[in-house]
Amino acid sequence: MSIIILGIESSCDETSAAITKDNVLLSNIIANQSIHKNYGGVVPEFASRKHQKNIIPVIDQALKVAKINKKQIDAVAFTNGPGLLGSLLVGTSVAKHFAMALDIPVIEINHLHAHVLSVFIKDSQQQLTPQFPYLCLLVSGGHTQIILVKDYYSMETIGESIDDAAGEAFDKAAKVMGLPYPGGPVIDKLSKEGNINSFFFPEPKVGGLNFSFSGLKTSFLYLVRDHLKNNKDFIQMNIADLAASYQNAVCSVLIKKILLASEQTGVKRISIAGGVSANSRLREMLFKESRKNQWSLYLPNPAYSTDNAAMIAVAGYFKYIKKQFSDYTIVPYSRKIQGEIF
Ligand code: KG4
Ligand code: ZN
Repeated sequence: MSIIILGIESSCDETSAAITKDNVLLSNIIANQSIHKNYGGVVPEFASRKHQKNIIPVIDQALKVAKINKKQIDAVAFTNGPGLLGSLLVGTSVAKHFAMALDIPVIEINHLHAHVLSVFIKDSQQQLTPQFPYLCLLVSGGHTQIILVKDYYSMETIGESIDDAAGEAFDKAAKVMGLPYPGGPVIDKLSKEGNINSFFFPEPKVGGLNFSFSGLKTSFLYLVRDHLKNNKDFIQMNIADLAASYQNAVCSVLIKKILLASEQTGVKRISIAGGVSANSRLREMLFKESRKNQWSLYLPNPAYSTDNAAMIAVAGYFKYIKKQFSDYTIVPYSRKIQGEIF
């Protein structure tokens, strides 16, 4: 018998609800919050208020698109953390009340766990899914990690950023150039017109599988600041080249580390997840490396790279089949909790 899950995501600035039947996606509705555009980052208080306004219409729409009656839902899966506490509280409260009213289980989902599993979302453009074990490069606005995925439930972080996340590195450079938040997609688009060799950024010196992006971000800031002294139009005149060179520097770090991880573990099945995994240069470089190193590459549909409830519902499905349910008294958490891998 099929299992129907309502997934709810509200950890940052996207309010999203999705319906899945087993791991097949029936609907995935996302309400974005443009209010943060001019602030260079997400303003937590605005985010939680927008979630409150959007969450019921978003769930309603997800049910309509999926042509599912709420009485058909078997469980509600929701992001319980990590993320912005005020935002998480909205999704968590709605999920628990929805489930309580229908007398069905709730399933707490770790947001990062769901990003990793986004490659298993089945839709009409379904691609091949990886066999275990595989390596996942998880690159989002708050996290940069290399994860050895042993199965749907068992994952080991083998490398992570010691300071900024890759997404933050994009967002902060975009802010320096006066571009709106989130900066990653804007830099990606501008880069298409730019030259990757126009500007040089020193490679971060962090050993092993760990990452560091704060030095790269600072060298970008200094380069722009120094040029502005002599030319106040420096940014406008060089914006595409700046974007392309910086994007290439960030992606080169990511590629270098995933290469090393594959070498060290002997695992040649590679996947990516999280907002930065939508980046076109990163995907292009990964394709090139996969041909060179005989990797099998598993890329999520870019629509499931950034935050969405489809990945929450699919992660919920995998927990449902193991009867890993949560208590109605569960509360959200903003940061990684002790004992958790993420
Ligand atoms: O996974 P996500 O939607 O939210 C978090 O869990 O953090 O990731 C958001 C991050 C932002 O930093 C955004 O700038 C970045 O992903 N991002 C991108 C692209 N699309 C989103 N970075 C580079 N290139 C993109 N195309
Ligand atoms: Zn995310």
